[in-house]
Amino acid sequence: MNFRYRLHGLVAIAGLLVLATGAPAHAQTGPVKVGLVLSLTGPFAATGKQIEAGARLYLTRHGDTMAGRKIEFVVKDDGGLPDQAKRIAQEMVVNDKVDVLGGFVLTPLALAVAPVASQSKTPAIVMSAGTSSVIDASPFFVRVSFTLPQNSVGVAEWAPRNGIKSVVTLVSDYGPGIDAELSFKKRFEASGGAVKEAIRVPVRNPDFSPFLQKVRDEKPDAVFVFLPAGVGTQFMKQFASRGLDKAGIRLIGTGDVTEDDILNDMGDVALGVVTSHHYSAAHPSPENQAFVEAFKKANGGKRPNYMAVAGYDGMRVLSNALKATGGKGGEPLLNAMKGQSFDSPRGPVQIDAQTRDIVQNVYIRRVERKEGELYNVEFDVMKAVRDPGRGN
Ligand code: PHB
Repeated sequence: MNFRYRLHGLVAIAGLLVLATGAPAHAQTGPVKVGLVLSLTGPFAATGKQIEAGARLYLTRHGDTMAGRKIEFVVKDDGGLPDQAKRIAQEMVVNDKVDVLGGFVLTPLALAVAPVASQSKTPAIVMSAGTSSVIDASPFFVRVSFTLPQNSVGVAEWAPRNGIKSVVTLVSDYGPGIDAELSFKKRFEASGGAVKEAIRVPVRNPDFSPFLQKVRDEKPDAVFVFLPAGVGTQFMKQFASRGLDKAGIRLIGTGDVTEDDILNDMGDVALGVVTSHHYSAAHPSPENQAFVEAFKKANGGKRPNYMAVAGYDGMRVLSNALKATGGKGGEPLLNAMKGQSFDSPRGPVQIDAQTRDIVQNVYIRRVERKEGELYNVEFDVMKAVRDPGRGN
């Protein structure tokens, strides 16, 4: 048999195998396609852009090849809409044949994509969505971001030790806000404080004035706030214009409200605000300083926030996992993402092998002016915090 016939025979056998088993869902050679489902327009566009910039920065700093396979991004805009997020994820899996999904700015977007990841057995890296229960929505989810209970309990313990005994909570009225409200209250009251009133505000286009008036009337020692990234500036302005600071009401919260992307625009009203959170651009490790510098260089001087860090670390988790599987995707890749630990710009992190959720330090920070700029300056830490919200 000459070579040409042997080749035809092999091609025919390969063709039969594909027909028998179905087309391979995830090719094991060629580029690794990473489908990022991100909000790039609408009110949460800044978050989507931070995640994308963080993910791209990982490749800029570490090269665009992992375990011998080139990384190729497929980035699509969900506009902040769950139906669109689901449709985009389906398109990515079916048409673009992505090996990995990632992104998901808001909890409802992650929940919409979960069945797509499960049915196609595509590992999906959650880079924002912080409601505790998100991780249970798909066994193919791995979370590199944070949970709201994780970021609420730090300041809940700090406050009563620092003269804050009565609080009104004010949160966005959806999954992460409710997680923040409940976990703050539980830990704050167990630490000797009392929640006087729990206010929930609309997620989209909130006018804070009537709610802030209500806070003022209650005269608490402080208001505890959770608002998703990007919304804090408007809140701060209204907090000041309603005179809550002058009335002696302190502002505490999760670090979402003083996030690094917008903190500098807030002005003096933000000074002294105490929050607990897993990331500050002012985190004083060499790893973080190099990350911040590289991010600014690649993004016209813009400061990274915790969303950029999640995009960056998400690519690191992918890189470690591809090295461990020798470039294989699918379930082996998912399994290799579980149990990883490494030094992130935020500090040491671990992906819990059982829960697939992030375990990380939570820092207590105060907004201060440093060299003319506002920063969340860390002054205390709770180490290796697991999500305390499971079972809430
Ligand atoms: C969420 O929708 O889960 C979410 C989004 C932005 C945040 C925190 C939580 O800053």
